Amino acid sequence: MDKLIIEGNKPLKGEIEISGSKNATLPILAASLLTDETCVIRNVPKLRDTMTMIKLLRSLGKTVETNKNQVTISSKKDLSYIADYKMVSTMRGSFCVLGPLLAKLKQARVSLPGGCVIGVRPVDLHLKGIKALGAKFNIESGYVLAKTTGLKGNNIYLGGDFGPSVLATANVLMAATLAKGTTVIESAACEPEMEDLANFLISMGADIIGQGTPKITVKGVKKLRGARFEIGPDRIEAGTYIILAAATKSNFAIKNVKSSHLLALIDKLRDYGIDFDREGNTVKLKRLRNPRPTSLTTYPYPGFPTDLQAQFMALMSTTPGVSVITDKVFPDRFIHIAEMNRMGANIRRDGNTAIIQGVKNIFGAPVMASDLRASAALVIAGLMAKGVTEIHRIYHLERGYEDLVLKLIKLGAKVYREKE
Ligand code: UD1
Repeated sequence: MDKLIIEGNKPLKGEIEISGSKNATLPILAASLLTDETCVIRNVPKLRDTMTMIKLLRSLGKTVETNKNQVTISSKKDLSYIADYKMVSTMRGSFCVLGPLLAKLKQARVSLPGGCVIGVRPVDLHLKGIKALGAKFNIESGYVLAKTTGLKGNNIYLGGDFGPSVLATANVLMAATLAKGTTVIESAACEPEMEDLANFLISMGADIIGQGTPKITVKGVKKLRGARFEIGPDRIEAGTYIILAAATKSNFAIKNVKSSHLLALIDKLRDYGIDFDREGNTVKLKRLRNPRPTSLTTYPYPGFPTDLQAQFMALMSTTPGVSVITDKVFPDRFIHIAEMNRMGANIRRDGNTAIIQGVKNIFGAPVMASDLRASAALVIAGLMAKGVTEIHRIYHLERGYEDLVLKLIKLGAKVYREKE
């Protein structure tokens, strides 16, 4: 296992480019299961999570070739309907093979993903959705065994106690493309990644309207064909580098940013005291005034993303005054607080809220990465801190940030990777 050593408290400069979106790639790769024809996906980020999905597709019988950031998926043998525990337990995103397998093979045996450090993470909405489409399911030895004599379109309300679910929307949307008749998904997730997935399915021949809104209508078709698709930029990676620039008082250029996907972050950064220079898809930060504390609450898109909550907390840790951050999407996603406090931050948790008393400086320390976005927050904290930070268990970062160390070195950061 590797660790990351960061010498912090230095402004960064230069430019970096944002990679393709991880969360768009995962369901789009899964959607290739809906056809026997060849799909070519470009701008796929080289990440542990995308590799896990590729391995899963191979284990299901697909032939997958990779060439730099292009992935070609074809069918040379029959598909298997069993998604193994080993694959699904390492990455929840794998669970979105359930809908396509069920639609294509009329049965699926997919391991339940289980919880993770950010919370319990149930799959009730996924199961409610496929049941409404006419599948019967049992839970057996940690697996969902779903069967159908033929999926049928239906009106499905997919809102849960914590809002819509991104991957439940993906599962139901993919299953509905090959169902008989019309499916209306109400309270669907509006995340740009779901819009990308729907657009990919449309290029495969699916009949979908309303993607990117809470009401998606799908008219089932008999068959889907192969397609080519280019994955758009990762809004969470872009948001992470934007927060990094604010946190290190740097104005490096961030290329390939779709700022319309980041309006909630941009709004919060304006409250904080930052404005943006935009030229095409390139963003640079511009300081308006001294930093001010702020309060924010995470919501489903277009609200402030839970996937940027930890990174924003790192920024707030040295902002004078009291900031308040509430996570309404994952109320337990606060494992990073203890690590930031080890670096001298003053953060207290109360239920799903963190109260951050800004300190003058934070200081380098050995810390432990616990999940993907918490790890990104520790990298930001390390680059803000005086002294040297050692981040252990950095494999989490490789799940979601393509070439993170290379990109940071390109910005002039003093970052080294070492074997533990
Ligand atoms: C996706 C993203 C993840 C992001 C999350 C929320 C991918 C691969 N991952 O995860 O990066 O943090 O959206 O934006 O795209 N819930 C239920 N029942 C369900 C499903 C979810 O109650 O059946 C709850 C969850 O516990 C959570 C909330 O709904 O509180 C949102 O979760 P969901 O949108 O499903 O997250 P994922 O799709 O797993």
